[in-house]
Amino acid sequence: MKKRIAVLTGAGVSAESGLGTYRDNGGLWDSYDPMEVASIEGWYRDRNKVLQFYNMQRAHLRDAKPNEAHRAIAELEKDYIVDVITQNVDNLHERAGSTHVVHLHGEATKVRPENTYNDEDGFSEKAVFDVGYGEVNLGDKAPNGVQLRPHIVFFGEAVPKMEQAIDLVSQADIVLIVGTSLSVYPAAGLYRFASPDAPIYIIDPAEVPLYDSRIVHIRKVATEGMKDFAKML
Ligand code: APR
Repeated sequence: MKKRIAVLTGAGVSAESGLGTYRDNGGLWDSYDPMEVASIEGWYRDRNKVLQFYNMQRAHLRDAKPNEAHRAIAELEKDYIVDVITQNVDNLHERAGSTHVVHLHGEATKVRPENTYNDEDGFSEKAVFDVGYGEVNLGDKAPNGVQLRPHIVFFGEAVPKMEQAIDLVSQADIVLIVGTSLSVYPAAGLYRFASPDAPIYIIDPAEVPLYDSRIVHIRKVATEGMKDFAKML
């Protein structure tokens, strides 16, 4: 029976693919205010600004390629059952060959009618569809005649896949965290659901705020840290 690995990734795993992180120096949130371009209030205040931000993200993603870290994570599937639970909205894990990827914060290449997510009607995945790297602008409507919005979990919205993610982490024999500042909840608290005897590793070149003595910090960039991690297995 193959052991299970839960791989929790953030923007740092895609940094070496040329996609910006959010909070490093020069990160996206240095140039854009997340409350304007990535929050539900920002959406209702200025839909066009949000649509153009994600049009830019899709254009960057079209030109980006998975890096050795994405590929190393996909390679783990040879010997383990791997659940990738990512905060990233890029599709680089899938393009590197990972076959089970849970996007906690949505996906940049997907859109849905703006009226499909509220407390009354719940979250309807069936209304979601893939626009690839194309643009979506004001006036672009879904089949139900409603303005399209990015299929992104905006700040101020719930994280529909959190239950599924908690379940996967709690079943994992090993937990690996790659490239996240662990600063946005509830995603940042996911690793705490690991079973008590599951080893936890984190790959990040920076100091990370962890108060759990069992965590092994591989203080390297993702492509290098994945080589060290593979040797520790
Ligand atoms: N390899 C590994 N880690 C790296 C690399 C690299 N080459 N470069 C940077 N990092 C690390 C940084 O040290 C930092 O800890 O990646 C992390 C990036 O942190 P953030 O920019 O905060 O990204 P993330 O943790 O994914 O943000 C979480 O915040 O704005 C929201 O929804 C957005 O999903 C995002 C969430």
